[in-house]
Amino acid sequence: MDYAELEARLIDIRRQLHQFPELSLEEYETTKRIKEWLTEKNIVIKRTTLKTGVFADIKGKYDSPKVAIRADIDALPIEEETNLPYASKVKGKMHACGHDFHTAALIGAAYLLQKSKDTLPGSIRLLFQPAEESGGGAELVKADEQLKDIDYIIGLHNKPDLPVGTIGLKNGAMMAAVDRFIVEINGKGSHAALPHAGHDPIVASAHLITAIQTIVSRNVSPLEGAVISITRIVGGNTWNVIPNKVTLEGTIRTFSNSIRQEVKKRFELVVQQTSLAFGQQAKVHWYPGPPALINDLKVNQSLHRTAEKQLLTVIDPEPSMGGEDFSHYLEDIRGAFVFFGTNGTEDWHHPKFTIDELALMPAAKFLYESAKDLLKLTNKKDIGGDRK
Ligand code: NI
Repeated sequence: MDYAELEARLIDIRRQLHQFPELSLEEYETTKRIKEWLTEKNIVIKRTTLKTGVFADIKGKYDSPKVAIRADIDALPIEEETNLPYASKVKGKMHACGHDFHTAALIGAAYLLQKSKDTLPGSIRLLFQPAEESGGGAELVKADEQLKDIDYIIGLHNKPDLPVGTIGLKNGAMMAAVDRFIVEINGKGSHAALPHAGHDPIVASAHLITAIQTIVSRNVSPLEGAVISITRIVGGNTWNVIPNKVTLEGTIRTFSNSIRQEVKKRFELVVQQTSLAFGQQAKVHWYPGPPALINDLKVNQSLHRTAEKQLLTVIDPEPSMGGEDFSHYLEDIRGAFVFFGTNGTEDWHHPKFTIDELALMPAAKFLYESAKDLLKLTNKKDIGGDRK
């Protein structure tokens, strides 16, 4: 298969996936197709306890070192509005984050690696990960021990605001840690005309919402990034009754474990003490998402060299306040995540989100070349040593 043939094939694969998007943990048809595309080239599928997602091995000259390449495969509950000839055929579901692009690029890399496997100085594990959008997919992969023997791991995400041929490589923190919270403020309801007879949770909430914003401005260094957003307020039923309870919901985004812990600690304190000052009881429910995504310096340097050899334009991207569960892998394994320019008109999760398919082959080639270069780079005593 020459370049043009492979490109046509990958575009076809991507369009097939695009027309049949499946939500997190429902990726059954996607899983089936990925397996077919891999076995077509005699790539060995690994056993797994996961119901969706595919793990496969390409064994080179040696069993180790091992480089894992990850693509996420799930779509979103969004109604597509692109009017493309290959738009989603499933009502209310769409590949609006380009995971179809990631999957097709990894199939392309797999084909190239399989073709040159006799010359690989190590082995490759392909991870087609389910449930990135809903969260939990990376943890399932880890729990299934798909990464136990992996030395390095890489992955990419399309980036619509970068042109095709541009790659974003970031040393250190690149995407935020995600925490979701629900706060219950339990006051005491009363007649609206007799507020002194109760403890008004609406007034307490107003103070609390304002006080919470001082955590980022007064407790986090101005040189660090963090955000707290309250996105939902529920309380009261009518105009002349002060309710018993107000519920607030929102999210905290941070870029390091220490700041994450500090912000959460301050949040608890401000919520509890402010509520107390108004004679009320608060309860905070935490729903932790992925940790901050922190790239390994040495792996990033290797990717940088690979990108330059491939004549890609390398930029240092702004970190994203969004979360990405690839970060779970980087807690245990040296690796890096990159942004790959796809020249789209809309950002991720938009109903008119598109990708320039000219980026597909460069992405596949980048994953292929990067994995090969990482296999060559491996120096056993370096692995897993100093990164914590
Ligand atoms: Ni995504």
